[in-house]
Amino acid sequence: MPRVAVTRTLPPPAVARLRRAGHDVRQHDHDEPPDRDALLHLVAGADAVITLLSDRVDDAFLDAAGPDLRIVANYAVGLNNVDLDACRARGVAVAHTPGVLTEETADMTWALLLAVARRVIEGHRLAASGRWTGWAPMQLLGTSLHGATFGVVGLGRIGAAAARRARGFGMEVVHASPSPKPEAERDLPARRVELDDLLTTADVVSLHCPSTPETRHLLDAEALARLKPSAIVVNTARGDVIDEQALVDALDAGRVAGAGLDVFEREPRIHPRLRWFPNVVRAPQLGAARVGAGVGLAHVVADAVVRVLDGRDAPNLA
Ligand code: GLV
Repeated sequence: MPRVAVTRTLPPPAVARLRRAGHDVRQHDHDEPPDRDALLHLVAGADAVITLLSDRVDDAFLDAAGPDLRIVANYAVGLNNVDLDACRARGVAVAHTPGVLTEETADMTWALLLAVARRVIEGHRLAASGRWTGWAPMQLLGTSLHGATFGVVGLGRIGAAAARRARGFGMEVVHASPSPKPEAERDLPARRVELDDLLTTADVVSLHCPSTPETRHLLDAEALARLKPSAIVVNTARGDVIDEQALVDALDAGRVAGAGLDVFEREPRIHPRLRWFPNVVRAPQLGAARVGAGVGLAHVVADAVVRVLDGRDAPNLA
């Protein structure tokens, strides 16, 4: 009976699907990740593993799993926790969940952006404090997005979905991506520019690129220094695309107007100073947190496992 290790509590239909297919499921049935030793112990001898983005899949993981391992199915669209080359070298397939939460992540981008631009959290605090003395012309003035430039770093599925919303808000869209995106550029429309140009001209810099060695600290001190002081940074991609310390310094110095962050460099830790800026809106990775979304994701990863262990292809292999 093929053995499937599952590294977290998942929506029950996923595990039910694996069991129906005759798999022996071993699960770390908790919301918190297993520690490294527990993870390596859990995966030992598995034919398939369902991982989360906080589980590092590297040579040590693959060694611990052993030679029977045929697929790692990552319960996320991002694969920065998975060493794809190491998996490929051992003939281990890797599945992920593209497309399942594209619109939701784009919504979250906009929830954060609007909250920063229109100072929703500060306003909420004031309204809830009992100390509001009434409307005043100079109170909590925000930034208008209409007519401003939305800069997308990484015009993939999620970047394009966020950009469609920007068009609905009357914004111009520019993007910096490794390759042209003719269809999206025509349909949105959006103009492809060099990253440097995007940084110096965009009113909003919205990150939608994967986390790779090339994109790590893409927004470092130097890049942040290029932004307009009125620019807002939004990150619903991966925390390490921004050098968090450099962002803190830029916010401190007033070199950036605000930030909306759904992801952080050292999750679940958040830079202590980043927690207190009134012009930063923070969320604990809510991009994927839509009612029912887990069932869709779980179905996609469980399906990939069942197919690959059955000797079939799966549509969502990386
Ligand atoms: C969430 O962060 C994902 O990669 O799906």
